[in-house]
Amino acid sequence: MTTPAHADTMEADTARLREMDARAAVIESTSRGSDGGQPTYEGLSGVVISASAICDVNGERGTLSYRGYDIGELACRATFEETAHLLWHGDLPSRQELDSLTARLTAERELNGAADLILSALPTHVEPMDALRTAVSSLTCNGTNGQDPGSMQEDQAICLVAKFPTIVARFYRRRHSLPPIAPRPDLSHAANFLYMVQGHEPTTLQAQTMDLAMLLMAEHGFNASTFAARVTAATLSDMYAAVTSAVGTLKGPLHGGANEQAMRMMLEIGEVANVAPYIDDALARKQRIMGFGHRVYRHSADPRAAYLRASLFDLCAESGDFHFYELATTIAEVVHAKKGLYPNVDFYAAPVLYLLGIPLELFVTVFAVSRVPGWTAHVMEQYANNKLIRPLSTYVGPENRVYCPIDDRGH
Ligand code: SDX
Repeated sequence: MTTPAHADTMEADTARLREMDARAAVIESTSRGSDGGQPTYEGLSGVVISASAICDVNGERGTLSYRGYDIGELACRATFEETAHLLWHGDLPSRQELDSLTARLTAERELNGAADLILSALPTHVEPMDALRTAVSSLTCNGTNGQDPGSMQEDQAICLVAKFPTIVARFYRRRHSLPPIAPRPDLSHAANFLYMVQGHEPTTLQAQTMDLAMLLMAEHGFNASTFAARVTAATLSDMYAAVTSAVGTLKGPLHGGANEQAMRMMLEIGEVANVAPYIDDALARKQRIMGFGHRVYRHSADPRAAYLRASLFDLCAESGDFHFYELATTIAEVVHAKKGLYPNVDFYAAPVLYLLGIPLELFVTVFAVSRVPGWTAHVMEQYANNKLIRPLSTYVGPENRVYCPIDDRGH
């Protein structure tokens, strides 16, 4: 529902975006090769392709902000639900707006028939991210075909945010022959997710930590999965299709898949004494250390990592066992000393999720559950000021070839 105040904000945003797009186009055109030829940017590294008012990921300063709020402000004071509203509407919600959003999210948690049917039909060897992508795709049965993609956007975004946790928890429990657990309307988004996976209510600290982890993973500019969602939306395909593209993209170990790999590495290292030899060996074999490095934060730490490291400390303090805190911080010190790399969001998120009792097989899906507000906010922004996204490529293949009849082609 867009109130007059929101309409003004969106109007102002759209005007600003158009002006910033023009500036981005100038930047891009001036970065062409001296001969005016097409620059070849591997992986679009350093290429500004559009303007956005949602998130500022500043690699030089090592800062991150959502709609102008520094991530530290939000990490210490906001909830995941408030952050979803902020990302969608550009402002933190009033008490009434938050109550309304919370009620709508709660009402949408249960799955519709198609998603539930698909989850029960999938064989249990299917990976949770593949089950998630398949079930999300079925949410389109909520009836969007024929609708103008621009309408119903907030309804669809709320449906997706609300249903992702239920899809993940439902498939996980089915996979392990555990009875499904219905969502509880009295629990927050984060607490309800833990409850549906584990079958018991989380402690206050566990619920707060899950909420913080989801908030920190909620949005991050034009990362690969968000870019995939925007490319899909830019064709005026629907929001469910765009988010399905995003889920498929996030699964890769160079993106969302790193948290699970980082945790497996920690479990394999086992003890602090094994850290240095393990890292030496991995680097000697040119292996990537999962959870380290970042395309944008190249000369500074990922600002989210510090908050997750603090959460890891708090969870260890609650249990009195600092094993994973000492192991993770030692790995971070050794990797930085040997390779100059900083931990990214996935590195400390890994032991935090592990200590929250999230099964390893669900780690990547937790990233997906958290990122839905960001993906859907970017889809809305793309629709609001849309231009088909269609880059060029430099052709390097053979030319001027002549057709040869098949009998003359040799074996
Ligand atoms: C996320 O974009 C986002 O915002 C994503 C994300 C989000 O919130 O959406 O922040 C979430 O995806 C975080 C990243 C999670 N992925 C990992 O942790 C996987 C491990 N990291 C790397 O594969 C790598 O750092 C990337 C893919 C994240 C970024 O790589 P780039 O920018 O393509 O840099 P590169 O691969 O060209 O590496 C540059 C150099 C290379 O050394 P040389 O070969 O030139 O000697 O740094 C080295 C790399 O070998 N390097 C690493 C390394 N990351 C970079 N060496 C060992 N281990 C690593 N992790």
